[in-house]
Amino acid sequence: MAGKQQNRDRWRRYWNKTSASYDKQMRFYDRLLADSRPWVCDQATGDTLEVAIGTGLNLPFYPTEVELTGTDLSPAMLGVAQTRARQLGRTVDLREADAQALPFPNASFDTVVCTFSLCAIPDERRAVSEMTRVLRPGGLLLLADHIAAASWPVRAIQRMIDVVTVPLQGEHYLRRPLRQVQAEGLQVERRERFKLGIIERLAAHKPAAE
Ligand SMILES: C[S@@+](CC[C@H](N)C(=O)[O-])C[C@H]1O[C@@H](n2cnc3c(N)ncnc32)[C@H](O)[C@@H]1O
Repeated sequence: MAGKQQNRDRWRRYWNKTSASYDKQMRFYDRLLADSRPWVCDQATGDTLEVAIGTGLNLPFYPTEVELTGTDLSPAMLGVAQTRARQLGRTVDLREADAQALPFPNASFDTVVCTFSLCAIPDERRAVSEMTRVLRPGGLLLLADHIAAASWPVRAIQRMIDVVTVPLQGEHYLRRPLRQVQAEGLQVERRERFKLGIIERLAAHKPAAE
């Protein structure tokens, strides 16, 4: 338990430190991600939770009528998201929270969004399980991330990158969120993979109650 807390504190410090330069770093990566931010946000409806919202780079893309809540481990990242929301004239309920233990009752949201963060959350299985728990029956989970590539030579390179990035940045290149989504019993409605299969975006429904 103490180890988990220390781990959380370490990554909180890391993301607090990264918050000032994050938007600049993402200007390069967002070109690789293509139109993934609007692809995800356009599908959000109703009460929407964005998990690990970071500096709020998705905020400009949400339809105006969605009611937005955003969580993140890092108060500094949330501070940048708050400034962005104010500049956009957008109301967002921003809260500091660990994606692995979301502070919301079951079935609280119509849509849950998580972009480019499952690669950074230590226990991504737990995080997807929490996202599923807080979704209402019939609700939509929307994910976009970099994942393990389609071909083994590229995966071999990703494995070498992981050796450095996992301990230094908490960044994982070989994850496959689809497996967790399917294990949670969600129904995948749309799934796209591109850039050698490294970028994946998907929309999956939580089955409606019987
Ligand atoms: C690469 S950034 C992505 C930010 C944003 N989702 C985006 O699309 O630009 C990863 C984010 O995950 C957050 N994060 C890392 N571990 C987390 C955790 N256990 N719980 C909640 N947020 C976490 C970091 O603070 C950071 O804001």
